[in-house]
Amino acid sequence: MRVGILTGGGDCPGLNPAIRGATLRLIRDGHTPIGILQGWKGLIEGNTVPLTEERVDEIIREGGTILGTSRTNPFKSESELKRLLENYEALALDALIAIGGEDTLGVAYRLYEGHGIPVVGVPKTMDNDLGGTDFTFGFDSAVTVAVDAMDRLRDTAKSHARVIVLEVMGRHAGWVALYAGIGGGADWILIPEVPPDLDTMCDYLLRLYRQGKRYALVVVSEGVILPFEDPQNLPLDEFGHPILRERGVGARVARYIEEKTGLETRDAVIGHIQRGGPPTPFDRMLATRMGLKAAELVSERTFGVLTALRGQEIVPVPLAEAVNRLKLVPPELYEEARQIFQRLHLQPERSGTVQG
Ligand code: F6P
Repeated sequence: MRVGILTGGGDCPGLNPAIRGATLRLIRDGHTPIGILQGWKGLIEGNTVPLTEERVDEIIREGGTILGTSRTNPFKSESELKRLLENYEALALDALIAIGGEDTLGVAYRLYEGHGIPVVGVPKTMDNDLGGTDFTFGFDSAVTVAVDAMDRLRDTAKSHARVIVLEVMGRHAGWVALYAGIGGGADWILIPEVPPDLDTMCDYLLRLYRQGKRYALVVVSEGVILPFEDPQNLPLDEFGHPILRERGVGARVARYIEEKTGLETRDAVIGHIQRGGPPTPFDRMLATRMGLKAAELVSERTFGVLTALRGQEIVPVPLAEAVNRLKLVPPELYEEARQIFQRLHLQPERSGTVQG
């Protein structure tokens, strides 16, 4: 079989190990892997590259994707969808492996259901918010970067007796904020799933200072909507998701804290730094196994599924399960984390004022 492989949506560490795993297994099974450049855009434009053992041999340690990516949605335009389907025929493809998040896999699902294209999906996203799978690769690498940022911010926050707010990615789900907050020892964590109670947070930070800690770290997910914000005004991307990067939620939270408490406060945004760099060993392993499984499913002619992690196993799960359901942080997990960031063992309140 001639099997197209593409990566779509936001990149994340682990894409290259997944391409490598799929390529090596496809070759082993006697198929011809073909790299499609820049996600669905590459299929609309007919841009491909050969994938060989030599090409993928050393990419296990590389972040990004050797195939490039885009946020192109072929279902936004009838003519683009037509070109995509024509190119699928012209390239004599027999199946596709689509590596992506909710948007890329949503397109894969519609191509499979509505146009009979044999597709296997491989779930990726640093946000870890895809339904159907326990974890996505890219998440562990992103959290590792965010925890490193927290460690660095702690040093400078402590030296200056400041509050520092770290803004991390995560437009619908607070997985990165939650893990980075716990892993980095945050004093408060704000995630999109839980409406922010900024005043309780400010009181708590003041209490921390009064009791002698005299600096604090706050983590906020970019998707948190503040009580005084109107989410309707945000610009949207091709898939209808709000573009959050210009909102500066971290800066807004920092300003709120400073105004409300009088504590000197700064903010930091790690942004796309979270999405770059070599994948962690966990992500290399997970992505490799998912790539291998995708190729195995193609060989077996099992289509319309994604390679999901369930416990220790990589298993096929219907694409419909992943594309119709986001995996959000459950409230009880946030409450569990609260035991740590809003620490229960603080001494009872003493009287006194905070000095800068
Ligand atoms: O891929 C998801 C994500 O990482 C979100 O957390 C973030 O909002 C978005 O990508 C940023 O997208 P872009 O790279 O297009 O700015």
